[in-house]
Amino acid sequence: MTPETPQKKVFIRTHGCQMNVYDSGRMADVLAGEYATTGAPEEADLILLNTCHIREKASEKVYTELGLLRRIKEKAATEGRTVTIGVTGCVAQAEGEEIARRAKAVDLVVGPQSYQRLPEIVREARSTRRPPVTADFAPGEKFAALRDTPPRNRGEVSAFLAVQEGCDKFCTFCVVPYTRGAEFSRPAADLIAEATRLADMGVRELTLLGQNVNAWHGDGQDGAQWGLGKLLFRLAEVPGIARLRYTTSHARDMDDALIAAHRDLPALMPYLHLPVQAGSDRILQAMNRRHTAGDYLRLVDRIRAARPDMALSGDFIVGFPGETDADFAETLRLVETVTYASAFTFKYSPRPGTPAASSRQQVPAAAKNERLYRLQALIADQQAAFNRSRLGMEMDVLFDRPGKRPGQIAGRSPWLQTVHVMASPDLIGEVRSVTIDALGTNTMSGVLSDARTFEEAV
Ligand code: SAH
Ligand code: SF4
Ligand code: F3S
Repeated sequence: MTPETPQKKVFIRTHGCQMNVYDSGRMADVLAGEYATTGAPEEADLILLNTCHIREKASEKVYTELGLLRRIKEKAATEGRTVTIGVTGCVAQAEGEEIARRAKAVDLVVGPQSYQRLPEIVREARSTRRPPVTADFAPGEKFAALRDTPPRNRGEVSAFLAVQEGCDKFCTFCVVPYTRGAEFSRPAADLIAEATRLADMGVRELTLLGQNVNAWHGDGQDGAQWGLGKLLFRLAEVPGIARLRYTTSHARDMDDALIAAHRDLPALMPYLHLPVQAGSDRILQAMNRRHTAGDYLRLVDRIRAARPDMALSGDFIVGFPGETDADFAETLRLVETVTYASAFTFKYSPRPGTPAASSRQQVPAAAKNERLYRLQALIADQQAAFNRSRLGMEMDVLFDRPGKRPGQIAGRSPWLQTVHVMASPDLIGEVRSVTIDALGTNTMSGVLSDARTFEEAV
């Protein structure tokens, strides 16, 4: 152990979306002076549960896990070790006081906008008895602190970069505007600096993150107001960055400049997560999505006109209050029209404090189950057809890790599919052309199209 290695250890458990994954990494960065990360909760001095509040199941997980962690804490205490337990993320923001009251093992509760204060809060928690609950909305402060805490090298080829946080849309089913606060865009200069730092550490692909990532806007380096399209062009100039993606977009914020970026920027991958939630205009209106199914379909046409090989993924909610069989049939019809490469499907889950939760037209569980099953079957067919259509195709693959079998490496297709190839691990971090020759259940395999040497191919 070198003298600089922190003596104490932190274990971070992450639930929820990619933003939470990014946040967990940045929490580790902020704590790095005092805590080294560990993958084993039993040996940790500090355990952080980074939580998700989006659906009831996700939220309830917190209390189950806290029960297990409590045992780890008690066992450590019998060995004379103090273990500090913290709850972070969206449940911390939404139910901070309740967690502190209900879960006695919890020493601190920190909302998503206050991670920059973690070292200080952890020290305070280790010295007082009442769990501090910190749930202020101060995204400017958070991101300013993150600017001054450069990301540490995690050896990644593909990394997340949070460009925007929060949401002003207030869909009637969703907790995010309450847990993440108002929309906030990080300054372009900070993002370029973070991207440059990541690229210097070997990152080749950036996925820009935001709850409404395409609502990102900011002052550009040319004095003009930039939108996400312009930012993507600038980030593509960062030496080493080969690929760009962004998620999650809202249909209302797909402006012309962003669609044009899909046409003109080769680094921008032809795969877009563009949730629509439902296919019935009546339900879309009740959800406060502020667009119709027709608006969405026309948008998809424009995006595909700009980038013909574009594949789409989506999110769907079945059983939103008031949804009839006829409404649901419109969701199926929309899915048939769009054809998705992949999609996430959810049963509507009433969330405390959201308008739809108090609707008296809740859909019975049996109907939700049946609709979910039918939608999933349709999407599974579309996904399988999309994967089949790649067979025999020559495509660029960014290799990002060793494969499961000896001699194999794995990477991602432009459409985010996992591709396995027998090739030298020296290619990890590089984009190479691969011809797909076999499909597995969730992955594909292929051969290097231009295997120049025997060593490279084997
Ligand atoms: N900002 C993104 C979504 C973030 S939440 C957007 O606007 O599309 C991720 C997904 O969780 C949503 O797209 C939605 O499909 C699902 N979701 C959100 N709240 C939900 C709820 N109360 N019940 C079921 N699914 C929900
Ligand atoms: Fe939630 Fe709607 Fe905002 Fe997406 S746009 S985060 S679904 S409120
Ligand atoms: Fe969950 Fe919060 Fe993300 S509620 S989905 S962790 S923004």
